[in-house]
Amino acid sequence: MRQSGSYTSRRRPLIAGNWKMHGMLDEAQQFVADLGNIASPDQVEVALMPPYTLLHPLSELLRQKGIQLGAQNVYYEPKGAFTGSISPLMLRDAGCRYVILAHSERRDIMGEANELIGKKLAAAWSAGLEPILCIGEHLEERQDGETNAVLRRQLAVLEDAPEGAALTVAYEPVWAIGTGLTASPEQVTETHAFIHEELTRLGHDCRVLYGGSVKPENAAELMACPGVEGALVGGASLQADSFMKIVQAAADVAAGE
Ligand code: PGA
Repeated sequence: MRQSGSYTSRRRPLIAGNWKMHGMLDEAQQFVADLGNIASPDQVEVALMPPYTLLHPLSELLRQKGIQLGAQNVYYEPKGAFTGSISPLMLRDAGCRYVILAHSERRDIMGEANELIGKKLAAAWSAGLEPILCIGEHLEERQDGETNAVLRRQLAVLEDAPEGAALTVAYEPVWAIGTGLTASPEQVTETHAFIHEELTRLGHDCRVLYGGSVKPENAAELMACPGVEGALVGGASLQADSFMKIVQAAADVAAGE
C-alpha cells in the first residue's frame, strides 16, 4: 500500500495508450494481432485511445481482450450543425468508456481554455463517459516555481463538477511529452501529492496518472512513486510489445504493494 501524506491509494491503476494522430486500419489490426494471447493482468486496467476512425473497428476486438476504449477529444453538444465535431453520445455509441480532455496539445495547438474544457467535462459526464483530464506545466513555469499555481488553475474546471462524477486526472508535464525527458521520481511524487491535495479540496478522490515519455525502461520506477495510479502513454503505446511491457511493469508494482 502506498502512502503520501494523508493520501492512500488502493485503486487499480490505469494504463492508457494515447495514439494521438497515428494509426491506419491495417496498423491497428496488426497491433491487436501482436497482442496475441497476452492477457491484461488483473491488477491493472488497460485502455486505448486511437483516432476516431479506429474506434468502431477496434471496439469489439479490444473488448475481447479486456481492454477499454477511449477517445482523445470530444465536442460538448449532443448533436447538431457542428461540422467536423464529434459528440459524447457518438463516442458512447462506438463503445468508448473514456475520453481524454484538455491534453496539452489541445490547449497549446488548438487554444482550448478552461471555459471550453468545463463544458466538455459536463457533456462527457452526462453521456456516461469518464473524462481523463490532463493537466501539466510548461518548462518555464516549472523553472519559475509556478508549477502548483498552474495546476491549481487547470484543476479549477472541477469546481462545479457533480459530486461523485467519474473522473481520472493525468499529470503530464508538457516538457516531458514526446521529448524523452521524464520528471524525476521526486518531482513526480511531490507534484502528485499536491494534485491529490487539490482534488481533495475540490471534493474529488480519483486516480491520478503520470504521463510524459513513459516507456518500458522507466515505467516501474514511475509507477512506484506514491500517488501515481497509472500512466497515459503516447509514443510507447503504438507498438503492442512496448505497451504491454508498461502494463506488466504497472501490474508488478501493484502486486508488490
Ligand atoms: P509521450 O506522450 O508518451 O509520447 O510523451 C504522452 C501524452 O502526450 O499523453
